[in-house]
Amino acid sequence: MTSYKELGLVNTREMFAKAVAGGYAIPAFNFNTLEQMQAIVQAAVETKSPVIMQVSKGARNYANGTILRYMAQGAVEYAKELGCANPQIVLHLDHGDSFELCKDCIDNGFSSVMIDGSSLPYEENIELTKKVVEYAHAHDVTVEAELGVLAGVEDEVASEVSHYTKPEEVEDFSKRTGCDSLAISIGTSHGAYKFTPEQCTRDPKTGKLVPPPLAFDILHEIEKRIPGFPIVLHGSSSVPQDEVDTINAHGGKLPDAVGIPEEQLREASRSAVCKINIDSDSRLAMTAAIRKHFDEKPGDFDPRQYLKPARENMKKMYMHKIVDVLGSNDKL
Ligand code: G3H
Ligand code: 13P
Ligand code: ZN
Repeated sequence: MTSYKELGLVNTREMFAKAVAGGYAIPAFNFNTLEQMQAIVQAAVETKSPVIMQVSKGARNYANGTILRYMAQGAVEYAKELGCANPQIVLHLDHGDSFELCKDCIDNGFSSVMIDGSSLPYEENIELTKKVVEYAHAHDVTVEAELGVLAGVEDEVASEVSHYTKPEEVEDFSKRTGCDSLAISIGTSHGAYKFTPEQCTRDPKTGKLVPPPLAFDILHEIEKRIPGFPIVLHGSSSVPQDEVDTINAHGGKLPDAVGIPEEQLREASRSAVCKINIDSDSRLAMTAAIRKHFDEKPGDFDPRQYLKPARENMKKMYMHKIVDVLGSNDKL
């Protein structure tokens, strides 16, 4: 058993309370590699932001859970080395799909877990979430649950369509499960293709796709029913057009990729939404820099030559999200 406290990590409780009260959101960045971890820590330290570093089941399979855990411990020490006296870093399991996986993470240094029972019938979601909450709280680990289904791929779970969260269920669900935060479905989805071209309109000036707006009416109804309760948005990458254009200009093929407009995420951050999940934008920033590098310098083959600009591009993106979208800067 390794407690997250031994690793210098924190859970989300205090962080979320401050974010809800302060009208900003905590960035939750997925990571799989050393360069992503370095860029996240550098961005968080330079902007004085708390940060959630999250690991999916796929990331654990790719990079190894033990390595990722010690990378999170390394992140805390690295942040201190960079001059941050009191880093607020959470190691979070993203889209946990069983009690056993959540328990394994809690026993191995995670300070927060998500149990994603959103594809289960309501009562089964409650039962599973409650079981995870009981174990997690006994170890002072916080739990994110999910109600409503996002379209697209949720780790290994795929859904063709989204089912918005039903506001009339949130009070009963949060009370009966004891969860610490709730991921909701209001029109975001995972990946770089959040909407089909048919779901969008085209901007007559640029010809670019304009996605349908998020269901803010549902978010506000949820806020009314559970005032101050921490809300989480998954699938919140913006899929920056300049990164997509760079990828496509250097041999990539991402036709009609489209994300969530940043103004809408800014608006959500000012509400009870206190955690915003971003993974695809990091993938795009990394891929754009690497493709450009290879195109311009075809003779390079030392990974440091192309991973350095990739890391810098991700750091720039993380800092932009923190300062210009979520507003979590200057909070340490
Ligand atoms: O919600 C999904 C995250 O983007 C994680 O993706 O399962 O491919 O690591 P992954
Ligand atoms: P994006 O694919 O929009 O980055 O969403 C990531 C996410 O929700 C991770 O859980
Ligand atoms: Zn997600």
